[in-house]
Amino acid sequence: MSSPNATPPIKLLFVCLGNICRSPAAENLMNHLIEAQGLSDRITCDSAGTSGYHIGDPPDRRMTLAARQRGIPMQGAARQFQRSDFEHFDWILAMDEDNYDDILRLDPQGQYRHKVRLMCDFCTHSKARSVPDPYYGGPEGFNKVLDLLADACEGLLTHLQTSPEPLPRA
Ligand code: 4NP
Repeated sequence: MSSPNATPPIKLLFVCLGNICRSPAAENLMNHLIEAQGLSDRITCDSAGTSGYHIGDPPDRRMTLAARQRGIPMQGAARQFQRSDFEHFDWILAMDEDNYDDILRLDPQGQYRHKVRLMCDFCTHSKARSVPDPYYGGPEGFNKVLDLLADACEGLLTHLQTSPEPLPRA
């Protein structure tokens, strides 16, 4: 049991359009890294979609297969991003610019803008700006997503060790 004075965990929310391909992959991949590094009581993860297209659905089976081939089991059921997520989470990681804009549309005052970042901001190897939507493409798209997410998740985890809270932007 954690002590009453324990630092609360950092709460991460990964967001894409449908919450069945990219954001659940980011969530499960990050959980895998967090467990491997013994950080499970320090960082927690969830994911959501900006759309309601797939509410309640499990992760896409093509993504589940691609992730399993890398030893990452996929769990979860899709849900839609909601305004209360701004309060509950410390970091909100958008997979692409459309997701980023759709999230910020729900925060017209810009009160939570500092919490919302593009996932690829944390890549240290790839120069990609966004994690491309693999839904209508072939199997190689899912592997490309996993490569990018592995890069971004590792970068984000390193960033959180020194900067656990997002800074309000100037
Ligand atoms: P995701 O992929 O945003 O990475 O979960 C998609 C899933 C479903 C759809 C689009 C993208 N869709 O149009 O149903």
